[in-house]
Amino acid sequence: MSAPNKSYDPVEVSALQPEALDAARDEAIAAIAAAADLEELKKVRLAHAGDRSPLALANREIGALPPAARADAGRRIGAARAAVGQALKARQAELEEERDQRVLAEETVDVTLPWDRAPRGARHPLTTLQERMADVFVSMGFEVAEGPEVEAGWFNFDALNFKPDHPARTMQDTFFVESEDTDLVLRTHTSPVQVRAMLSRPLPVYVVVPGRTYRTDELDATHSPVFHQLEGLAVDEGLTMADLRGAIDAFVHGMFGEGLGTRFRPSYFPFTEPSAEVDMQCFVCRGGSVEPGAEPCRTCASEGWIELGGCGMVNPRVLVACGIDPDRYSGWAFGLGVERSLMFRHGVEDMHDMVEGDVRFTLPFGMEI
Ligand code: FA5
Repeated sequence: MSAPNKSYDPVEVSALQPEALDAARDEAIAAIAAAADLEELKKVRLAHAGDRSPLALANREIGALPPAARADAGRRIGAARAAVGQALKARQAELEEERDQRVLAEETVDVTLPWDRAPRGARHPLTTLQERMADVFVSMGFEVAEGPEVEAGWFNFDALNFKPDHPARTMQDTFFVESEDTDLVLRTHTSPVQVRAMLSRPLPVYVVVPGRTYRTDELDATHSPVFHQLEGLAVDEGLTMADLRGAIDAFVHGMFGEGLGTRFRPSYFPFTEPSAEVDMQCFVCRGGSVEPGAEPCRTCASEGWIELGGCGMVNPRVLVACGIDPDRYSGWAFGLGVERSLMFRHGVEDMHDMVEGDVRFTLPFGMEI
């Protein structure tokens, strides 16, 4: 602050000259009008109405004036500060209104947008098909049985009459848990559940076994290292190959429609004797595509027949391993691949589609199959 000015001459207190005050006020009002947003206005307020603004500094100079001049100077400064304060208030209100309008526009909720933004999942057709297949057996009086996917080698191989040097027991075909010595494998088929069922259930046994299985196959169009099988097992007195054939016919009719033939081709499995590969007549061309000049059939590659799975009469050695008297009881078993069934039943050409988890593949199948 300047020293008291005994002979009042406003010219000597330059900050208090009317022109200087008007200039400071006009400059402040212009800056306020030019502030484009609230942030800028805050800076303008500090510069033109803050403690170190020209008008605040001029205000402080009042004390340096002779008493007679103070009232006049105070009025002029007060008027200038009031004008700036009013301009600030008005601009503040304007900018707040602008901000509110902008926020309202930016945060508008479009109630016409679809509400179902979270994409919906779908049941996997393998699950649906597996359940549908098992249901056909359940309708014939079979019970659903399950077993562990990490299985003891004894259940997966030994009890099923696989000899110790059988190629399936090597690491080329089988995933061993830890090492080959632990005798713990990822089950290579659902057949170990046959053994578990025979050991744990009272006779007669009629079970259907859907489940996940593992083999060291590379993923390609027709193979997967993880796939699903469905197994049927019946153990009772007096069962013959005719019962097996009848059950398979009933299964084929339940899944693919009446009137389709089946056929057995000789095969080999250590746990069935005799063993067969079972084919069903093509449910699309019903065998007609093999006739000369007939339309080709994509489903059966114009073979007229579709390979369904393996089957046979339970090997008496397996019955003995499960503590069942083979002179009194006999049994049949049947196993098929669920992925391969989905391929021919629904025209899926590549197994990659089944494992990639893209909901666009699963959705069209719906809840029924
Ligand atoms: C077996 O696994 C026997 N346990 C089936 C059986 C049960 C025979 C009861 C007799 C009595 P196989 O190895 O053929 O059989 O396999 C059965 C089916 O599994 C095949 O027909 C095929 O559809 C399917 N399958 C096998 N390997 C794969 C794979 N890597 N990917 C997808 N499906 C497979």
